Amino acid sequence: MFRLQAPLPDRYTHASEDELVAMIGAARATLGRRVVILGHHYQRDEVMRWADARGDSFGLSRFAADQHQAEFIVFCGVTFMAEAADILSAPEQQVLLPDLNAGCSMADMADLEAVETAWSELGVVVDLDSVVPVTYMNSSAALKAFVGRHRGTVCTSANADTALRWALGVPYDAAPGPGLAEHVIATGRKVLFFPDQHLGRNTVRALGFAAKDERVWDPRLATGGLAESDLKEVTFLLWKGHCSVHQRFTPDQVAAFRAAHPDGKVVVHPECAYEVAALADKIGSTDTIIHYVERAAPGTAIGVGTEIHLVHRLAEEHPELTIVSLDPLVCPCSTMFRIDPPHLAWVLEGLVEDEVRNRIFVEEATAADARVALDRMLEIGGSSF
Ligand code: 13P
Ligand code: SF4
Repeated sequence: MFRLQAPLPDRYTHASEDELVAMIGAARATLGRRVVILGHHYQRDEVMRWADARGDSFGLSRFAADQHQAEFIVFCGVTFMAEAADILSAPEQQVLLPDLNAGCSMADMADLEAVETAWSELGVVVDLDSVVPVTYMNSSAALKAFVGRHRGTVCTSANADTALRWALGVPYDAAPGPGLAEHVIATGRKVLFFPDQHLGRNTVRALGFAAKDERVWDPRLATGGLAESDLKEVTFLLWKGHCSVHQRFTPDQVAAFRAAHPDGKVVVHPECAYEVAALADKIGSTDTIIHYVERAAPGTAIGVGTEIHLVHRLAEEHPELTIVSLDPLVCPCSTMFRIDPPHLAWVLEGLVEDEVRNRIFVEEATAADARVALDRMLEIGGSSF
């Protein structure tokens, strides 16, 4: 859904840092428990300091589902996260996104029309009863509704492993490896995974599948650019989508870090390419990365493959460790970065004046189906990698 952020009044754009702190603090105090502010780990510090709860996509959606007190949820994150919070929160609660242009380029790589086309093209060749659609949280509400309608689920980087086991009918505690892969292949079950091919591939390989078991579905080509025999034979169809921030990390960067820090550790987000993830000591969601760092022995050097605001915060909070980004040419997530103190002050002062600005509202027709898939995700729970 295309939304456009209107320019803010000068009162916000011309305010100094201190003035913005005073505005946000005063609005928060006036609103009290009527408002809760959620902050994704990629938010800048000037915004994150106001968050009542911080988390990864999984944790924040669980928080939104469990939190019934606040009338307003101000989501400092990106659109797909705010949509999920709207779907999972109570009907009387309203979700606000401080800047409507805070989208996600990966989420935009799969739209409903393209996924429906893929589904019907697939249906010509294979029995759709054997295919389970799984969408990454980083997708529109319309795609979450699609998987809800088609017996699928949403997953996040925190539970992709358990979500794929659920989709494949594999026990959550079955040991990963070629045996598990062979068992699944024999059942003929398939998964259409979108929009991030890398999270898909990293999860599939960690379960014990090989390259031969997956194909990339290119939505710009008829039947994804794949032959009929491919569609029949493979277990996983991975949508050709990626995160422009995480695809910057390379195996050479890991090698350079290890050369500089022979005893160092590497932790990366599963949106990084498989070639990078395969070299890491740990792969996981933003929460998992934080926990990994928190448990490291003092003096450890850690190379991190994720968005730079989180890496900088970890470095500041852990002076006993050496924490560096694997990418020397640091690349922030430009859409997460759109949420800034002027926009936060603007939405909060609006609430003080009884004006709801930038509400993210998912129509009930879509929300009802999307809720099925999101509830399933929360039920599946678990932690990947
Ligand atoms: P997490 O769910 O791990 O926080 O990741 C969200 C995201 O957008 C990563 O790019
Ligand atoms: Fe989307 Fe990548 Fe930004 Fe995450 S880091 S919100 S996947 S563009």
